[in-house]
Amino acid sequence: MKKNILITGGAGFIGSHLTRLFVNKYPDYQIINLDKLTYAGNLENLKDIEDKPNYTFVKGDIEDMDFVKKLFTKYNFDGVLHCAAESHVDRSINDPLAFVRTNVLGTVSLLQVAKDGWKDNYDDKLFYHISTDEVYGSLDEKGFFTEETAYDPRSPYSASKASSDHFVKAFYHTYRLPVIVSNCSNNYGPYHFPEKLIPLCINNIIHNKPLPIYGKGLNVRDWLFVEDHVRAIDAIFHKGKIGETYNIGGHNEWKNIDIIKELCRQMDEKLNREKGTSEKLITFVKDRLGHDLRYAIDATKLENELGWHPSLQFEEGLSKTIDWYLNNKEWLNDVTSGAYMKYYEQQYGK
Ligand code: NAD
Ligand code: TYD
Repeated sequence: MKKNILITGGAGFIGSHLTRLFVNKYPDYQIINLDKLTYAGNLENLKDIEDKPNYTFVKGDIEDMDFVKKLFTKYNFDGVLHCAAESHVDRSINDPLAFVRTNVLGTVSLLQVAKDGWKDNYDDKLFYHISTDEVYGSLDEKGFFTEETAYDPRSPYSASKASSDHFVKAFYHTYRLPVIVSNCSNNYGPYHFPEKLIPLCINNIIHNKPLPIYGKGLNVRDWLFVEDHVRAIDAIFHKGKIGETYNIGGHNEWKNIDIIKELCRQMDEKLNREKGTSEKLITFVKDRLGHDLRYAIDATKLENELGWHPSLQFEEGLSKTIDWYLNNKEWLNDVTSGAYMKYYEQQYGK
């Protein structure tokens, strides 16, 4: 079936994998990627599909209502896959307002444009909002986040995402705008910007730089390979129920220190370094403010209702990820020059 689909934030980490999947899998869909190209957006992430006839890139800000309205009028979108966001917790601690602007105001603006553009005729329309498990807050050693877990965001990032989730649901309840929200655990994989734990440490191991572990490294995250996340989004977009939330996660919990030790082990092997070389780079640094202890997702609903399961074991996914960074040093060098160095010094010192 022919459809016009708007993907926001398609030049970012998850957005680029999602855009690639949709462009390749659905040649009948016209995919419009709207991205502001902040520090996290990079058209190099989409080089392999940029010339496909069913793909168009548009540079713009989701907050710019007039601009997005014109785009809606031009393409009469059937669906919106909303990925655009400020996504890094540490940056949100330094500049919360930037997160309110894009994640809250940008999302509400997009909802309003979709509502106006669809003129209350919602047949076969869908506004799909991509969100995070961090909205649920922090767990102690036991338990999992389900779709019924009450929101308890604790960082400016998660508070801004929680707020945007609430607005999406409010547009459903108030105006019957057809929406779906999914809340996913931590992703990893190719094209991940090296401000986040795994790619930052891959880059630092390559360059023999310290691996900064916050606190004691005992915080737990539930890691999912990014391609599994976008497969889940595909399943939910096509078969999910309007108005519902779906949790996405890999049943793959790791303490930060253990994940970094596994990364060091694999990288020593791949770089032909003596066993134990990279582990010596581990450096415990000042803890993140308000550092959430543990995230863990119960994805039973998605597994039972839509038959989705993660496809990769973590060690295999991590190996694939490291190989990608080692084979794409130019990409890594490009994104870690200039503004990145300034950020790095501000966050970790020289
Ligand atoms: P990212 O930071 O890699 O990419 C965000 C993209 O949005 C970039 O291309 C950026 O240029 C674009 N963008 C930012 N502000 C914009 C604006 N005002 N207008 C238009 N474009 C703008 O983020 P990501 O890790 O790919 O995350 C994508 C989405 O998935 C986010 O909503 C995030 O909350 C969610 N999420 C991320 C993870 C994760 O582990 N990375 C996990 C669960 C959910
Ligand atoms: P991150 O990749 O920033 O994702 P999130 O905070 O959204 O879960 O961080 C993952 C975990 O790694 C988190 O517990 C914070 C920790 N961390 C470090 O220990 N050192 C670092 O330099 C970074 C960026 C993160």
